Amino acid sequence: MALTDADLSRLAAAVDEERLWQMHMEMAKFGATPLGGVCRECLTPEDIQARLLLKRWAEELGCDVSIDAIGNMFVRRNGSDTAAPPIATGSHLDSQPTGGKFDGAYGVLAGIEMLYALRDANIQTERSIEVINFTNEEGGRFQPGVMGSQVFVRPNELERMLGVVGTDGVTMAEALAGFMAEVGPVNTKPLKAPFAGFVEAHIEQAPRLEETGNIIGVVTGIQGARKYQVTVRGEEAHSGTMPMRRRKDSVLAASKMVVALHELMADPDDLTRFNVGRFQAYPGAPSVVPGQVRFSIDFRCPNDDKREVLGNRIAEVCSTVAGPCDVEVLEIQRAETTPFDQGVMQVIARAADRINCPRMDLLSGAAHDARNMARICPTGMVFIPCEGGISHNEVESATPSDLAAGARVIAQTVAEMAG
Ligand code: GLV
Ligand code: MN
Ligand code: MN
Repeated sequence: MALTDADLSRLAAAVDEERLWQMHMEMAKFGATPLGGVCRECLTPEDIQARLLLKRWAEELGCDVSIDAIGNMFVRRNGSDTAAPPIATGSHLDSQPTGGKFDGAYGVLAGIEMLYALRDANIQTERSIEVINFTNEEGGRFQPGVMGSQVFVRPNELERMLGVVGTDGVTMAEALAGFMAEVGPVNTKPLKAPFAGFVEAHIEQAPRLEETGNIIGVVTGIQGARKYQVTVRGEEAHSGTMPMRRRKDSVLAASKMVVALHELMADPDDLTRFNVGRFQAYPGAPSVVPGQVRFSIDFRCPNDDKREVLGNRIAEVCSTVAGPCDVEVLEIQRAETTPFDQGVMQVIARAADRINCPRMDLLSGAAHDARNMARICPTGMVFIPCEGGISHNEVESATPSDLAAGARVIAQTVAEMAG
């Protein structure tokens, strides 16, 4: 039987702002940094502690935890029809190396708060509800990001992703085995298990909600992205002796590439996003002309044609300025601009209106696991403001009341979809 407006209002009222805030503060202890953020990269000891805490909370709620082959965690509250595909919410507990307390953690904790609220409001849904913690959303230690959800919806990528070598030389498979050894016996979730819907809560990571005085962002979709790894090979030499004209200096060549690529991507409308966030020279010694540079490219743009054309020119632009060095450009991830489900957007908008929260539609510039989930079920996202639009930064901040407002919207949306 469908839940009534009164049921959904009761559920929203059962979301406890203080409990949700305290969960964030508890979680933020794992990998806490001096500037108030977190360093909790995927499957590090800090991330594993966060995962174990999530499991403890799930058990306190009487929920089952299952884990799939890439380490995604699923906390399940059974509905009356346990055979029907569940509705899910969730996000990720891993962070950037200098991340904040809210990017990712919020989506998982809003889900846990929803489970508390369902219990406290004594609401039984028809479909089961699951809260997901996706593995390696951030893609810092292991590239590429949104790996867990990508493998979940495309199981044939499992083997390649398990082989990815992290920045510390550990493979994804080894890191995952470390977690599985600590988590104890759990049920196994098959990859690509069916879901009837997915909604993810997240801080906006941009300033539009704050600038417009809105509290809820009804996310219309996620802009497309292409990620690359560029390797520039020169020749190691003694820095005090080798004549400048005979050098094959990979840092010089790679620097010219970065400048040329920024010129390629220059956009008068300021819609294109281009970032070289990792730039590593080998062997990294002051007196050795660097023999090799490896750098990352993160290129995003909502216009599919433009992204296609510009992305396809990256290798050629690098070659043009490579001088005496060799360059290899490897595309490691690509995603089209993904629109979210109109029906889910309407349920989210209704939920915001039910609690009188000002809302606006917006497209996400950041990537999220919802982008992958949209391939297998009706999907949407709920954004709440973050201070100054600042994220991927230790000072990232959100208010307890905005966090609670988003959790109220998520709880109602998931409950309405679960029937
Ligand atoms: C997620 O953190 C992203 O890179 O957009
Ligand atoms: Mn995130
Ligand atoms: Mn992030």
